[in-house]
Amino acid sequence: MAILKVMDHPLIQHKMGVLRRVETGSKEFRELVNEISMLMCYEATRNLPLMDVEIETPVAKTTVKQIAGRTLGIVPILRAGLGMVDAMLNLIPTAKVGHVGLYRDPETLNPVEYYCKLPYDAPERDIFVLDPMLATGGSASAAIQFIKDKGVESISLLCLIAAPEGVARVQKDHPDVDILVAALDEKLNDHGYIVPGLGDAGDRLFGTK
Ligand code: PRP
Ligand code: URA
Repeated sequence: MAILKVMDHPLIQHKMGVLRRVETGSKEFRELVNEISMLMCYEATRNLPLMDVEIETPVAKTTVKQIAGRTLGIVPILRAGLGMVDAMLNLIPTAKVGHVGLYRDPETLNPVEYYCKLPYDAPERDIFVLDPMLATGGSASAAIQFIKDKGVESISLLCLIAAPEGVARVQKDHPDVDILVAALDEKLNDHGYIVPGLGDAGDRLFGTK
């Protein structure tokens, strides 16, 4: 079984507390999602392999570390995953970006796909799937399956808030996928919203409600 990691760094916990507040407006919400995603990226890449390379400083020759191994890719789940992209690209500028478009049918809560475009070399990359919310897990599980169907084998899922139900669904459908979250909440309500959660992440990011 892959890992479930709750990234409980004090800065992440503090910023999550502000993000959740009902009075936090879209501008601050976007900024916080960006900042938390950057802190999560830092933690999520902690074990990347390094190799030695010889360089010359203005003073002397020396050996420094350079990230080795496979290149990275990021795949936001549209729409809300877009809020996490800039932070990842700021820290990993060589990452390529794919997109999976899904929305959750409000009646059935099942994911409906409307777009999927990945980098041509996605199978050679380690892919981070981004979505602020892991609720029933239907969207993340379907997105991961699309990505696997394109030949990708190394996938991690980064979410700001997860419900236990969503974690269980992804672990059951994709036991090979690591799940990294900033908070693990209590439960889902009758409408499939995470409790206490933060409401609708896409609407809060883009001001659509
Ligand atoms: C939200 C969220 C996830 C999904 C989570 O997207 O960003 O993609 O719901 O729910 P699930 O785990 O039960 O599938 P939404 O469907 O609201 O679309 P949006 O990002 O376009 O607002
Ligand atoms: N999608 C959201 O944006 N929020 C939730 O709580 C559940 C699904």
